[in-house]
Amino acid sequence: MKVHNVELTISAVKPEQYPNNGFPEIALVGRSNVGKSSLINTLIDRRSYARTSGQPGKTQTLNFYKVEEKMYLVDVPGYGYAKVSKKEREKWGRMIETYLTQRPNLKGVISLIDARHEPTELDLQMLEFLHYYQLPVLAVGTKIDKVPRSKWNKVASNALRKTDFLNSDNYVLFSAVSKIGKDSVWDWIDQMIEK
Ligand code: GTP
Ligand code: MG
Repeated sequence: MKVHNVELTISAVKPEQYPNNGFPEIALVGRSNVGKSSLINTLIDRRSYARTSGQPGKTQTLNFYKVEEKMYLVDVPGYGYAKVSKKEREKWGRMIETYLTQRPNLKGVISLIDARHEPTELDLQMLEFLHYYQLPVLAVGTKIDKVPRSKWNKVASNALRKTDFLNSDNYVLFSAVSKIGKDSVWDWIDQMIEK
């Protein structure tokens, strides 16, 4: 999709604040600093519309980005940031769980995993959670520009062998620097929102 029109409609923390125009939504989840906001910026062809940061924990609300008056990309706060308190982590958990499990508009979830490392325990828990709730999932290996090309196959096979529901059709290597993988991610989104 060539994107001309984007708007941050709302930063929500509870269901009453979610948009109510019925557009399909695609959420992005992953550990803090994995590149969720950067993936959004790449998808919408903007350098820094969604706020990114070298500091983990930048995104703390569910940010609904309306794209082309037809869908939302939803930037979800990252997990696994050690410096947040237990109380905040629980609040985060409830907010995310409510959104992911009770939102009819949600048509698919992009689960980001740092391609430089094997999926973490939290990455695998998130994938299992999404699978359990029968949400369509695209796993995206991020920051692939930091991995030598000779290792790309290994990165993919390492990620795929950790779960029984990921395969080469729902796994994409991606870089916000080189933009590799961008078209594959859009193709998947288009399929999900047309269903
Ligand atoms: P939180 O909002 O804290 O959960 O983080 P996030 O997942 O939104 O990550 P963000 O997009 O802010 O990126 C974190 C850092 O990684 C920033 O310094 C980005 O510039 C960098 N980064 C993101 N994607 C890539 C990529 O594909 N390649 C490289 N080399 N750096 C990236
Ligand atoms: Mg972010």
